[in-house]
Amino acid sequence: MENNLKKEFEKLLEEVSDHAVNTEFLQLLAERFPGEVIFSTSFSYEDQIITHLIKNLDIDIFTLDTGRLFEQTYETWTASRAFFKKNIKAYYPDTEEIREFVSQNGPDSFYQSVEQRKACCTIRKVHPLKKALQGYKVWITGLRSEHSVNRQNMPQLEWDEDNRIIKFHPLLHWTSDQVLEYVQTNHLPYNHLHKKGFVSIGCEPCTRAVKEGEDFRAGRWWWEDASKKECGLHIHK
Ligand code: ADX
Ligand code: SF4
Repeated sequence: MENNLKKEFEKLLEEVSDHAVNTEFLQLLAERFPGEVIFSTSFSYEDQIITHLIKNLDIDIFTLDTGRLFEQTYETWTASRAFFKKNIKAYYPDTEEIREFVSQNGPDSFYQSVEQRKACCTIRKVHPLKKALQGYKVWITGLRSEHSVNRQNMPQLEWDEDNRIIKFHPLLHWTSDQVLEYVQTNHLPYNHLHKKGFVSIGCEPCTRAVKEGEDFRAGRWWWEDASKKECGLHIHK
């Protein structure tokens, strides 16, 4: 069945050349894979736009509640439920796994080493992600190439070998100005941290605002080397 999915992906690639891939492609995916397309939201500007675009499409939505998100992110989640009136499935870390990890290493061990940080991301994000993607054939994300050097040469439609799923990033080539304009024009609810210098918003202890001229990714795991700054949700080999 999985091999068939990879074949379906190859067929999709043939049908749609990279630059023809745009937001209307979301509709095509929803029709081609009914009930098997899911979108992951972290309630960022980008994610709010995608939620707006898929509001009336047969595409499910989930979020990963790591337990360490900002209060403002929870507020945006609440506001989004009211605004979009679309179900958002919540996924959580496995209780036993997180209990054991925190008991052994303390609540903030991510500051100690890259290994500890990655272990925390694996338990709080990657393992719940695997559960969320189960039973789906297409995963939509809000990745944008401006956000990270690792994301600059990514294809918009790709085969995710790790999760054995088709992955699509509708806003990959959007600029920050385009994003902001869409949010404002459509009066979308947004995470108020975006107005305080936060560009890419993850967990509270691992995200800070970026200063004028700093790289967009500078506010995530700022104590680490730039090349290590991915949490394992999006792996590009
Ligand atoms: S991360 O890999 O560094 O954490 P980033 O914050 O840039 O990711 O967000 C990129 C995309 O990953 C989002 O648009 C969203 O699709 C997905 N994502 C990130 N964090 C979450 C989360 N907590 N829950 C669901 N999806 C998420
Ligand atoms: Fe843990 Fe920080 Fe990763 Fe969140 S971003 S899962 S708190 S290491």
